[in-house]
Amino acid sequence: MVNKTALDEGGTPTRISTIVAASALAANHTPSAIVRYLDQYVVGQDEAKRTLAVVVYAHYKKLLGAARLNASIAKSNVLLVGPTGTGKTLLCQTLSNAIGVPFVTADATSLAQTRYVNEEIEAILLRLLGQANGDMAKAQHGIVFIDEIDKLKSAGGQLRSTSGEGVQHALLKIMEGSLVKLNATQAIDTSNILFICGGAFVGLDKIRAGKPNYGFISIGDSANQRILDKLNARIKPTDLIEFGLIPEFTGRLPVIANLQDLSRATLVRIMTEPKNSIYQQFRDIMQEQGVALEIAPRVFVEVAELALEYKVGARSLRGIFEEMMTPVLYAVPDLPQVRKIVFSSLFTNPALLDAAGIEADNPVAW
Ligand SMILES: Nc1ncnc2c1ncn2[C@@H]1O[C@H](COP(=O)(O)OP(=O)(O)OP(=O)(O)O)[C@@H](O)[C@H]1O
Ligand SMILES: [Mg+2]
Repeated sequence: MVNKTALDEGGTPTRISTIVAASALAANHTPSAIVRYLDQYVVGQDEAKRTLAVVVYAHYKKLLGAARLNASIAKSNVLLVGPTGTGKTLLCQTLSNAIGVPFVTADATSLAQTRYVNEEIEAILLRLLGQANGDMAKAQHGIVFIDEIDKLKSAGGQLRSTSGEGVQHALLKIMEGSLVKLNATQAIDTSNILFICGGAFVGLDKIRAGKPNYGFISIGDSANQRILDKLNARIKPTDLIEFGLIPEFTGRLPVIANLQDLSRATLVRIMTEPKNSIYQQFRDIMQEQGVALEIAPRVFVEVAELALEYKVGARSLRGIFEEMMTPVLYAVPDLPQVRKIVFSSLFTNPALLDAAGIEADNPVAW
C-alpha cells in the first residue's frame, strides 16, 4: 500500500497513507460539528455555514474514498456571494481553523492588477505550502480562498476587463487541478485542493430581478412551496455569466452559498456573542486594569443603528465602538480609584465609579 501513488497521471507521488491521514483528520468532523464551531465566531449566516460544512465534509470524505480506490475526485468548489462585511472571509478563516487544514486567502483584485498572474498564483500556493509547514501532502489537501472574485468580471471589451478574464482563465486551470511548479525542485498538484471563492457581486440583484423563475416546474397541490421558493432564490450560473464571469469559470463553482445582509439584531449579537467579540475584548482590556466595564444593551442598539447607516456590514462596528471607548482608555490608567465604568448610551458620557460606587469626577467628558 505504502508504495502505491494515488495520483497516477503526472501527479506528485503522494503516498496513499499520507493522503488518508491528512483527509481522515479533516473528515472526522461532521457537518453539524463544523457548524457548531463556526457558531462560536460567526453570527447568523446559517445557510452559508451549513453549505460550507457539508462541502468540506464531503470533500474530505471523497478524498479518502478516492485514495483507497486510486481514483481522482470531482471537486465541489464553492462560491460565497454576499454583501460586504457580512462574514465571507471570517467564515472561511474560521472554517479552516475548525478542520485544521492549511488555508490561505488570496485577493482576486491584486491578481487582476499584476502582469504576472502565474507568478502570483505560484506565490499563493507557496504560502499554502508554508501554512502546511512545508508538508507537500498536507498542502495538497488545503483550502484556498479567493476573495473579491467579482472584480474579475469582464465588461464588454474594455481594456481593463481583459485582465480580469485572463485571471479567470489562469484560475480555471488550478481550480480544475494541475501541477504547478513552485521552484526548481517542487511542484504542487492542485487536484485535491478545495477552492472557495467569495465576492459581493454588487449589481447581481438587478440582473436577477425580473428574471423568470423556474416557471417550467409545474406546481401541483402537493408541491412544497418552500422548496420551490428555495429553488427560485438560488443564484443561477446564467446570472453569474451575465454579471461577467466566463461560463467555464462559473462551471467550476458548482456550489453557491448566499450570505444575507446583517440586521440590526444580528449586529448587536456580533458585538456581544462571539467568543472574541468586541465587547469581550474591551472588557478584558479593562479587567487587566482592575476595572469592570458595563455597557447597557441600549448602547449596542445605537452602535448597530449607526453601523447600518454606514452600509459596510459589520465592518464599521469596531470603529464606532473604539471611538466610544477611546476617552475611557485614555483616562482610566491615570485614575486608580476608578473600579467600574458604565455606559448607558452612546450619546452620553460614561459614569466612572469607585469601589464604593461613588461617581468620580469625569475627565472622560471630551
Ligand atoms: N456574521 C458575522 N459574525 C461575526 N462577525 C462578523 C460577521 N460578519 C462580519 N463580521 C465582522 O466584520 C468583519 C468583516 O467581515 P468579513 O471580512 O468576513 O467581510 P466580507 O464578507 O469578507 O466582506 P468583503 O466582501 O468586503 O470582503 C469581520 O472581521 C468580523 O469582525
Ligand atoms: Mg472578504
